[in-house]
Formats: sequence, C-alpha cells, structure tokens
Amino acid sequence: MGFFDTEEGVEQYLKMAEGYDGKELIKILQKYLPENSTVLELGIGPGKDMDILTKLYEVTGSDNSQIFLDKYKKNHQDADLLLLDAVTIHTDRKFDCIYSNKVLHHLTREDLTKSLQRQKELLNPNGIAFHSFWKGSKTESMEGLLFTYYEIKDLKKVAESFEILAIETYTEMEKEDSIYVVLRKR
Ligand SMILES: C[S@@+](CC[C@H](N)C(=O)[O-])C[C@H]1O[C@@H](n2cnc3c(N)ncnc32)[C@H](O)[C@@H]1O
Repeated sequence: MGFFDTEEGVEQYLKMAEGYDGKELIKILQKYLPENSTVLELGIGPGKDMDILTKLYEVTGSDNSQIFLDKYKKNHQDADLLLLDAVTIHTDRKFDCIYSNKVLHHLTREDLTKSLQRQKELLNPNGIAFHSFWKGSKTESMEGLLFTYYEIKDLKKVAESFEILAIETYTEMEKEDSIYVVLRKR
C-alpha cells in the first residue's frame, strides 16, 4: 500500500501543501491551450489545481489514490473523476491536454518514459502535455515514497518524441527548485 493510500499519508500531504497551488503554472498553460479544451489532470491530490482548471477547461481529474478522489468528490459532486495510474493511464478517452503538478516525480525514470508514450496515444492531434517536476539529479525514498529529480537536459531527453514548446525552471519552495515542461504531440 502506497503513502497516498493511507489516511495518514493523505493528511500529512494536505498539511504540507497548504498555501501551494498551480495558479502560476496554469497561467502559463493558458498561453498554449485555448479555453474550453479538454484536460486530463493526473494526480489531482487535494484538487486545488483541478478547481482552477475547471474554471477554464473541460476537466477530468484522476489519481491512483481512491482516498484523494473520494475527498474531492465529497465537495464537488459533479466532478468527472477517474481512478488512474499515471504510467498506464487506462482509459479509452482522448484529451486536448494532459496536465500534472508534482506527480510524475513519484515514478521511476523508466515509468516516466512509459507514461509519456501513453500520453501521446491519449492526446488529440497537436495535444499538449504540461508537467512539473522537482529539479535536481538524485533519486530518494521518503516514507516509502519515491522522489526522482530531473535536470532540464534529462527532461529534454525523455520528452524528445514530443515538440518541446517550453521548459523552464521556477520557484516553489526554494529558488528555482522546480521545472515545468510544455510538450506538443507531433
Ligand atoms: C505530491 S502530490 C501532488 C498533488 C497535486 N497535484 C498537487 O499539486 O497538490 C502527488 C499526487 O500524485 C498521486 N500519485 C502518485 N503516484 C501516482 C501514480 N502512479 N498514478 C497516479 N497518481 C499518482 C498521489 O496520489 C498524489 O495525489
């Protein structure tokens, strides 16, 4: 059972993530993705980004933790939610955009490659993938949870089958501790 599959893990994350959301990232996304596009969010967690995205786009939220999905559903009964693993993304639906904020660093490097391949299959023509990562070069495990850090050059390599529209560092907790990528399906 993973960290986010326990009430304790989810509560710990909710406390830690207080005061953070993807508002600035979504402003950047808006430069590339017209309003009312369809968006699949991977790993919604508490759903703060999903709340913002829903004001602009037709959003489907997903996570592989049923606990996060149930919590979100409680306060958003009309939300379109799917229990999905970010690697296999088992759905037959297609989207204009696949978005995640600090989710894919929980995958191994190999699984990130698999995830991006699968995302390509699920994106409509010219579809956009937008993801954020922690910047660095190490891999570590905390409380059974994997953290894989990436440098810009690593992400360029793993995303090479996409057109890279933007790849930049930004600040989440410490200066330039994060990277976002905007990819377009070729
Ligand atoms: C660090 S939290 C980020 C949550 C949210 N995106 C945010 O910005 O607050 C990571 C989220 O990814 C989810 N997650 C981790 N591994 C996943 C996987 N393999 N497939 C789908 N979701 C996953 C966790 O359940 C958790 O909701």
